[in-house]
Amino acid sequence: MNETLHLMQSHRSDRSYSSEPVSDVLLDEIIRAAQCGPSSMNGQQTSLVVVRDAARRARIAELAGNQPWVAQAPVFVVIVMDFYKSSLGVARAGQQQIIHESVEGYTAGAIDAGITLGNLMTAARSCGLGVVPIGGVRRNPQALIDLLELPPCTFPLAGLCVGYVAQAAPQKPRLAMASYRHDEHYRRDGLPEMIGDYDAVMVKYWQEIGRADGVSWSANLANFFTKVYFPEVKTVAAKQGFLNDK
Ligand SMILES: Cc1cc2nc3c(=O)[nH]c(=O)nc-3n(C[C@H](O)[C@H](O)[C@H](O)COP(=O)(O)O)c2cc1C
Repeated sequence: MNETLHLMQSHRSDRSYSSEPVSDVLLDEIIRAAQCGPSSMNGQQTSLVVVRDAARRARIAELAGNQPWVAQAPVFVVIVMDFYKSSLGVARAGQQQIIHESVEGYTAGAIDAGITLGNLMTAARSCGLGVVPIGGVRRNPQALIDLLELPPCTFPLAGLCVGYVAQAAPQKPRLAMASYRHDEHYRRDGLPEMIGDYDAVMVKYWQEIGRADGVSWSANLANFFTKVYFPEVKTVAAKQGFLNDK
């Protein structure tokens, strides 16, 4: 197996960081690697806000629902869906941008942000750093937008903690490959059984790592997917110009 495959197949989200700083040289390379990723229409509708300041990280940790690793990791990168830059380009061409008001625009921007997140993670981990993505940045989006001084037509979609790992996390098991990879066409047969098996695997996993609060995959999703867990996204995104009405 080559080094890249090994790196990607050993992915884990780390939530324990040392105070060892990440050098500017290393961080620059990681961010350059992420910027080299593709984007829909070459719109490059992603921007990163790199937060190193401890007080600002502590505030973001709080806004994200009190996630201590956000304050602990020396670098926090906010991945911003950014149709502000593109709107300036469209205006420069004498027109008015409307794509950010559409579901298509939001979808394309979210995909691009996801690619950026993935590239940042691979790049950072290839340098011996640990990472954990933080969707919690969408818990209090208006406060984060104010803190980061984000312009209209932008929205913070995700964050990423980056730092040297103090205590390595165990790797989390995945659903059966047959539930993920469908050759030629989608197969529903067997999914309930695979989910049942995975529920048992996850309960065992939590027990093995001493997490008494750990529940099965199904029970965990039932806790979150039966409500809109970040309800402010809709109104704040609309306020930023992401109307999602086209
Ligand atoms: C978009 C996204 C948002 C996430 N948000 C959070 C978060 O706010 N806090 C957190 O601790 N983990 C977060 N995670 C990490 C997931 O919980 C983690 O990827 C999942 O449990 C699988 O574990 P693993 O990454 O260790 O394999 C997020 C992951 C993704 C991809």
